Amino acid sequence: MLPPMLTEAVCLLLLVSLSKAQTTYTISPTRPCSNISLILNKAPVGVSFEFFAFPGWQGLESTETCLGNLGVLSGALPPVRIGGTTQDRALYDPRLKQAVNYSVASPLDAPASLTYGPSYFNLASHYGGNVTFGLNRRLAQLNNSILAAEKAINTIPSLYALELGNEPDLYGASSPIAQKEGGGKWTPVQDANSQVHWQASVSKASGRTQLIQAGVRLQPQNGWSVAQLAPVEVSSDSLSYVRSFGEHSYPQSACGGSATHLNTLMSHSGIVSYTKQYRSEAAVAHSAGKPYFLSETNSATCGGGGISSTFGAALWVVDYVLQAMVNGVQALNFHHGTLGNSPYDWWGALLDSSTNKWTNYTFAPYYGAVFVSAALAGGSRVASLDDGTSSYAVYAVYDKKGAPMRLVLYNSDYYDGTSSKRPTHTFTIKGLKGAVAPGPVTAVRLTSHAATDKVEAGQNPSVAGLQFNNVTCRAQGRPALESVKVQDGTAQIEVKASEAVLVELASGLTDWSGFGRL
Ligand SMILES: *[C@@H]1O[C@H](CO)[C@@H](O)[C@H](O)[C@H]1NC(C)=O
Ligand SMILES: *[C@@H]1O[C@H](CO)[C@@H](O)[C@H](O)[C@H]1NC(C)=O
Ligand SMILES: *[C@@H]1O[C@H](CO)[C@@H](O)[C@H](O)[C@H]1NC(C)=O
Ligand SMILES: *[C@@H]1O[C@H](CO)[C@@H](O)[C@H](O)[C@H]1NC(C)=O
Ligand SMILES: *[C@@H]1O[C@H](CO)[C@@H](O)[C@H](O)[C@H]1NC(C)=O
Ligand SMILES: *[C@@H]1O[C@H](CO)[C@@H](O)[C@H](O)[C@H]1NC(C)=O
Repeated sequence: MLPPMLTEAVCLLLLVSLSKAQTTYTISPTRPCSNISLILNKAPVGVSFEFFAFPGWQGLESTETCLGNLGVLSGALPPVRIGGTTQDRALYDPRLKQAVNYSVASPLDAPASLTYGPSYFNLASHYGGNVTFGLNRRLAQLNNSILAAEKAINTIPSLYALELGNEPDLYGASSPIAQKEGGGKWTPVQDANSQVHWQASVSKASGRTQLIQAGVRLQPQNGWSVAQLAPVEVSSDSLSYVRSFGEHSYPQSACGGSATHLNTLMSHSGIVSYTKQYRSEAAVAHSAGKPYFLSETNSATCGGGGISSTFGAALWVVDYVLQAMVNGVQALNFHHGTLGNSPYDWWGALLDSSTNKWTNYTFAPYYGAVFVSAALAGGSRVASLDDGTSSYAVYAVYDKKGAPMRLVLYNSDYYDGTSSKRPTHTFTIKGLKGAVAPGPVTAVRLTSHAATDKVEAGQNPSVAGLQFNNVTCRAQGRPALESVKVQDGTAQIEVKASEAVLVELASGLTDWSGFGRL
């Protein structure tokens, strides 16, 4: 992707001026040079579907509309990645009539092994956005993955890339692939050698280059990183097979009884320090000439310990996406796991164990996805304007010419609804004189009663005053647009604790009244 050098104004080395209390932020008239994203993908906020559950996700009415709503905002459908732990448990069976075949004790379990048939690919063939398809490597059945790769290439018109394995750090020395290719050892070194071997084999069999999304689950402390993998790609002359690097990353985990914390999840300074690790990884991918994605990410693994489906997680989605972009990430795929057993999902269904009945929901984190997709829509770059040390965040989205078009203001002070008084932070924004036409500008809010709110508990958030139908994912309600006065290039905007505001510096950037109705 070539940056449009000819149309984009040069950046400004202006230092962002911060008052002592960090309440005043000055917007530069053209994009700043630092703490700014690369040129944005049209639809950078995407979704990942767990491999065995993908047919189930396709069976939900909300899936098409929830993705479509984000597509309407962005002007293009979001990227979808199909994969996860069960991609490394799955084998392709060209004679299988069903999309997937497996058996589980409970509908909330993921299968230990499964097969999938040709009709599985048909389910992915109608999607118009970029599709990345995950193949098995753990079971060391290269021929089977080659067969599936060819089927994917021939069936999915918008296929972007193929992944070869999910999270190789989890394979272990006793896995078939470690036995076959690692000499019974399995470290990032054995994995990298295996990755390049498979990249060459799958690419040559299908006569393709630029086909593979290479990557690992990011754990730099244990050597699992793009920084470790990319030099092996270079030394083995394999970069031509690679289309992109994709990494997996979850800021929190409830695995093994670990505790999760909503206030630290949504904390702006916490998000700034967590996402810093992407910067050097992105730089390595970019110097290899490849885009860098978070191909599987979400808030907290192993069920999330009660925080993943909250409104606070919606606020986390917003700040995490923007901060990831500023650190060089070009798109994110938020994972959707086992239907009914994966609280970080943006939509889905829950099973009532007493009645054995399913109820469909559009969960709180989806409101964050809508808000941040609207914030980035049509933008060229996004810049982070605060120093990253407080609970308050300010972003400016710049257009193709380098002029500011939108602001995102985020107050990550944790409000759980227990105290009767909800604190407010006033953001003072300066430097708007040349950036806005005379008169007020429009703002919309991502809000709820408290960070702990959950749709499934009857506590609906709203974005621009709208809510999303639990079954259809269509928008309902009347848009709530606020008018913000700009005087001498300065605007003051109040944002409650655990709330975010989107300010549109030009009129008509987002059609909130038409949004989500079709
Ligand atoms: C699909 O992927 C390509 C390559 O990364 C990217 O340029 C394009 O913007 C993506 N499409 C969308 C709609 O984001
Ligand atoms: C609601 O969820 C259940 C369980 O996944 C699914 O079978 C059903 O089709 C969904 N309803 C609609 C209208 O999508
Ligand atoms: C489906 O999987 C079960 C085991 O889970 C197996 O017994 C059965 O033969 C499989 N069916 C087909 C059509 O492959
Ligand atoms: C894999 O396919 C190749 C080429 O068709 C064949 O020579 C080889 O025997 C196959 N290997 C296995 C384990 O089936
Ligand atoms: C860029 O971000 C870093 C960390 O968030 C911060 O320390 C620095 O002050 C920011 N630079 C500018 C120019 O705002
Ligand atoms: C979603 O379902 C919950 C639980 O029944 C309900 O309280 C909530 O109002 C519904 N949300 C919307 C937007 O209809």
